[in-house]
Amino acid sequence: MLYSSYARSRTAIAFLFLAVIAAETRFCFSSKVYVVYMGSKTGEDPDVILKQHHQMLTSVHRGSVEEAQASHVYSYRHGFRGFAAKLTDEQASQISDMPGVVSVFPNSKRILHTTHSWDFMGLPDDNSMKIFGHSTRNQADVIVGIIDTGIWPESPSFEDTDMPPVPSKWKGHCQKGEAFNASSCNRKVIGARYYASGFEAEEGLENKLSYKSPRDSSGHGSHTASTAVGRHVANISYTGLGAGEARGGAPMARIAVYKTCWDSGCYDADLLAAFDDAIHDRVHILSLSIGPEAPQGDYFSDAISVGSFHAASHGVLVVSSAGNNGNPGSATNLAPWMITVGASSTDRDFISDVRLGNGVNIKGESLSILEMKANTRILPASEASAGYFTPYQSSYCVDSSLNATKAKGNVLVCRHEESSTESKVAKSKVVKQAGGVGMILIDELDLNVAVPFVIPSAIITKKTGEMILSYVNSTRKPTSRIFRAKTVFGTQPAPLVATFSSKGPNSLTPEILKPDITAPGLNILAAWSPAKGNIMYNILSGTSMSCPHVTGIAALVKTLHPSWSPSAIKSAIMTTATTLDKQQKPIRADPGQRKANAFDYGSGFVNPAKVLDPGLIYDIKTEDYIEFLCSLNYDDKSLRLVTGDNSTCHGHRKFKTASDLNYPSITVPKLKDNFSVSRTVTNVGEARSTYTAEVSSPAGVKVTVVPNQLNFTRVGQIIKFTLNFKVVAPSKGYSFGFLSWKNRRTQVTSPLVVQVAPANLGMFW
Ligand SMILES: *[C@@H]1O[C@H](CO)[C@@H](O)[C@H](O)[C@H]1NC(C)=O
Ligand SMILES: *[C@@H]1O[C@H](CO)[C@@H](O)[C@H](O)[C@H]1NC(C)=O
Ligand SMILES: *[C@@H]1O[C@H](CO)[C@@H](O)[C@H](O)[C@H]1NC(C)=O
Ligand SMILES: *[C@@H]1O[C@H](CO)[C@@H](O)[C@H](O)[C@H]1NC(C)=O
Ligand SMILES: *[C@@H]1O[C@H](CO)[C@@H](O)[C@H](O)[C@H]1NC(C)=O
Ligand SMILES: *[C@@H]1O[C@H](CO)[C@@H](O)[C@H](O)[C@H]1NC(C)=O
Ligand SMILES: *[C@@H]1O[C@H](CO)[C@@H](O)[C@H](O)[C@H]1NC(C)=O
Repeated sequence: MLYSSYARSRTAIAFLFLAVIAAETRFCFSSKVYVVYMGSKTGEDPDVILKQHHQMLTSVHRGSVEEAQASHVYSYRHGFRGFAAKLTDEQASQISDMPGVVSVFPNSKRILHTTHSWDFMGLPDDNSMKIFGHSTRNQADVIVGIIDTGIWPESPSFEDTDMPPVPSKWKGHCQKGEAFNASSCNRKVIGARYYASGFEAEEGLENKLSYKSPRDSSGHGSHTASTAVGRHVANISYTGLGAGEARGGAPMARIAVYKTCWDSGCYDADLLAAFDDAIHDRVHILSLSIGPEAPQGDYFSDAISVGSFHAASHGVLVVSSAGNNGNPGSATNLAPWMITVGASSTDRDFISDVRLGNGVNIKGESLSILEMKANTRILPASEASAGYFTPYQSSYCVDSSLNATKAKGNVLVCRHEESSTESKVAKSKVVKQAGGVGMILIDELDLNVAVPFVIPSAIITKKTGEMILSYVNSTRKPTSRIFRAKTVFGTQPAPLVATFSSKGPNSLTPEILKPDITAPGLNILAAWSPAKGNIMYNILSGTSMSCPHVTGIAALVKTLHPSWSPSAIKSAIMTTATTLDKQQKPIRADPGQRKANAFDYGSGFVNPAKVLDPGLIYDIKTEDYIEFLCSLNYDDKSLRLVTGDNSTCHGHRKFKTASDLNYPSITVPKLKDNFSVSRTVTNVGEARSTYTAEVSSPAGVKVTVVPNQLNFTRVGQIIKFTLNFKVVAPSKGYSFGFLSWKNRRTQVTSPLVVQVAPANLGMFW
């Protein structure tokens, strides 16, 4: 009570100020959360650090200890030093000038990478995640951190039956809270923490937090955790669909939960605190199905880029999702120190049959197990518009746009577009409310995402939609009947890159290909939170779902090769990926099943059969990432925003361009005449082995490799080679090829991506 009346009076004062002062200074008086970075990690006493942060805050609050304490949100102490606090722009700028402060940046909000968060979507993990002849005994030593919406610990996917004791190196914690106590953690979920301070500081304290604890109220975090490392659970399904066994990629690996995301999103201050703790807790891999909206800001202003830099420099691999925007250049999580995952289909689908009055049968996507008993009149929703709604508006079946007199008892044909504020499920509710008995939904983007509708419904492509509308137009009493959804296997071609999966080129650093890799992300069945929809398993789609598939694979690699660096594990995943589908044809992409390229799938579709034995790896050290940032012409201030220490670009001018980073894919934008790039590969296969280069040059370019044979005599040996790119013919835009190091057993493949600069560019200089 006291708090809210205090808050109200503060608001009133702020409004008075607003009325008096000019517009351009308006924002000076509103405080928001800033993250303050302070130098590299040292062995200082945590109490001393906290005291120092409070002193700094006190000085910008004109000596008020109370205000300073009230403004303090977090102190970071493990991976890096610094704190988060509520500050005005003025105070933030004062702090940035204080000694020891590296940088200050605002607390931005990030989003979960699920398409249409409240549509239930998805397809299950096909059985491709076997561990090829290798022991899984040490899997229980691998700890996977999930930064997400928390966990439903009672899910059968998180049972600890037959799991050995918690690893002795584990330094984490099981944080108590609402409906979550010490016994909520077990030998499977060995740690759980939650972070709400950044969220509350921005969005207020009233009724916004569902489960103020690591418990998952949304389902997203349980879904991603169980996809990565969930236990085997027999006989599960989503309302009978996709029935079978659920399991993660590495079912014996441990889970550490970092709940940073709440109903409306995840704030930077909370994300950074989670990274900080995860590094301290000794997780091996971090999975983040979260990202900024496209286009992503620069690395130094993006908490996930900064946090993952620290994770990587402490030996923690960060796996992240590319985003669900789908457009060219929309990929996010662009930093080269994480592995960024795009989404594809599998060969399983959820289909509803639709029979038209003229006998034509159509297949649509659906998760609805409701069906119609007989053929019924079918009507375009545009012909059932209500009140002030135009037929065009009603054709999208938006809320209140349908006239119940006209809609009643009919099947309605509605449209859906990406920018729609109404979800597909909501449209089925609108039709139901208007008395409709079924819905055929034309998806203008052809997403192929299945949805659990409230009436018999099916999603069809734009082309099929035109066919149905012309049938409706051609006869006096058009009818249709929609059958219940069923699970269909063997859909071809598969995998197909999903329409929504965010694409390259990298909008920030075109020299680094993103996404890095592709994994199943369409219609994935995994554990859920019964707090949402009262179900234990659910089907979802998104790069949020493909990311944890790669996390699970990374856990398998870590099991077998515990000493490998994050970049070595990443290299193994990328260089063993395939660009062929299950029929050994080049992978295609939706919509329209066009031929896909590296901007769709990165290095390709993840290949668990090969990933444990990659032969050679492209390794990268933290020093190289500093060279990389310096090659982007970062000044020391920007550099330090990322590194969190007192690094400088002085003496870090080894790279001509960012293409020189020892990345497992090779991209040369704006190629003029010719250009050379060097790489090193480390032998992790047989001691004595010879690899020969096979090159497919991108259109318009001739690529040569020197030497074109690599003779290794021992494990761990590093050999350098140089690729020369020479323009031989004009070409437009980007073109694609590959370099493959081959021996009898192994192929180590990197995509080559080249953009030839327009020939006459020089004339305009
Ligand atoms: C908390 O602990 C008690 C036993 O100590 C247990 O009965 C209870 O179910 C636990 N779990 C939750 C979520 O409160
Ligand atoms: C699977 O579960 C359903 C109900 O949930 C049950 O009817 C069926 O017998 C179970 N099948 C197996 C093989 O356990
Ligand atoms: C709905 O349609 C009926 C019949 O065409 C019409 O009489 C009525 O005014 C319409 N109502 C609205 C809200 O548009
Ligand atoms: C339906 O037919 C009419 C006239 O035959 C035509 O003008 C209209 O464009 C048609 N609409 C559709 C959706 O095919
Ligand atoms: C950077 O920090 C380290 C220790 O943290 C210190 O030894 C070194 O002198 C510092 N370098 C500069 C340029 O400030
Ligand atoms: C690349 O270009 C430079 C100068 O433009 C030239 O000296 C060199 O021989 C060229 N290399 C190749 C492989 O064409
Ligand atoms: C590798 O060994 C082969 C013979 O096995 C030899 O012909 C070739 O020159 C060697 N390549 C390099 C780069 O040393």
